[in-house]
Amino acid sequence: MRMVDLIIKKREGQELTDEEIRFWISGYVKGEIPDYQSSAMQMAIVFQGMNNREIATLTDAMLHSGETLDLSMLKGVKVDKHSTGGVGDKTSLVLGPMVAACGATLAKMSGRGLGHTGGTLDKLESIPGVTIAISGDRFVNQVNEIGCAIVGQTGSLVPADKKMYALRDVTGTVESIPLIAASVMSKKLASGSDAILLDVTVGEGAFMKNVEQARKLAHIMVDIGKRLNRNTKAVLSNMSEPLGKAVGNSLEVKEAIDALQGHGPEDLMELCYSAGAIMLEQANCYKTIKEARAALEEVIRNGQAFDRFVKMVKAQGGDIEYILHPEKFEMAKVILPIYADEAGYVKELNALTIGVSSMKLGGGRETLDDVIDMSAGIVLNKKVGDQVAKGELLATLYTNKPASVYEPIAEEVKNTFVICQEKVEHQPVILEVIE
Ligand code: URA
Repeated sequence: MRMVDLIIKKREGQELTDEEIRFWISGYVKGEIPDYQSSAMQMAIVFQGMNNREIATLTDAMLHSGETLDLSMLKGVKVDKHSTGGVGDKTSLVLGPMVAACGATLAKMSGRGLGHTGGTLDKLESIPGVTIAISGDRFVNQVNEIGCAIVGQTGSLVPADKKMYALRDVTGTVESIPLIAASVMSKKLASGSDAILLDVTVGEGAFMKNVEQARKLAHIMVDIGKRLNRNTKAVLSNMSEPLGKAVGNSLEVKEAIDALQGHGPEDLMELCYSAGAIMLEQANCYKTIKEARAALEEVIRNGQAFDRFVKMVKAQGGDIEYILHPEKFEMAKVILPIYADEAGYVKELNALTIGVSSMKLGGGRETLDDVIDMSAGIVLNKKVGDQVAKGELLATLYTNKPASVYEPIAEEVKNTFVICQEKVEHQPVILEVIE
């Protein structure tokens, strides 16, 4: 079998056999198939797609490319959650401690930023001292004691995804239903949880630009999970505008701290309550969604969710002084406010523009080796549906880049606020639940 023949086959829109898919993945992981051939195959898949059988085989080949975790020594039903990526998506940082405080067990492997989207690991690492690389034993102990841990994918777990994910990020091959489904589900299945909630983001700031595509991706992933006896559900969530107000690593951690202390932005809290209630029901902690939601609201009110977050950060080596006093986070040198030129209502706010702008300000990676500036990003003061007065603050940019970089970005950010005269409704955050 020759890899080049398989690339041509897929390029011409033909189906790959199970054997051919396994040949590609095992050869790539062993280093026998080079990056450039794997990239070409991924690009062929972006254009030609895969059928459900091919996606299931690709997921299985990736899942078995390394070790899988056995979480049976952990108490209770283990729940996991995964977002397909977005702008300002700090949900896991808030939701993990919330569901843990309500009695669920969350053993979560997260990822890094991909394309214009941020990654939970990068956000967590903006807290000085935090490590996301902890040993299996320490991971199990932490989850047993605190109820939650958010760590990086170890080298031995789904190595195929580790290599492919990094390659896709820099070869324009992220936006593909088969590749996203296999990437997400191979990781979720390998990391051993009993129940999985998938947050499939939809809109300009997500990889799925419309509800039809997102629904298709969600159904494929839910089917893969169910076939392997995992209680798998999905929510479709709105990512046409950023989630919450902060975009950028330490800025988002500060917003997550606010949220855990009961001062979170409405859309972020709604997603956490709705998704969290489904997770608690999946984990058999509560019989109804209504009871689960009430419990989540209570752990925010009584400070127990915040307390779990503090414990999780401490267990992972973080300096909790930054959590207790978020003003300690290092500030970017340039803080640039952007004001409205006209009065009206915000009609549109393009999440992709905000995500790319935050990345260019230093908050994300443009190439594999880029080092992220944890203090860089954007804080929005207005979101879709908000009323704006002339001269009012729309957003603030945070960066350490020179004026030649941030001035054009400031212009782009200002222009992405589309202001109209008619009243505009606030956007719903959960669009659909798929079971
Ligand atoms: N999240 C993942 O884990 N993989 C993808 O391909 C996209 C989002």
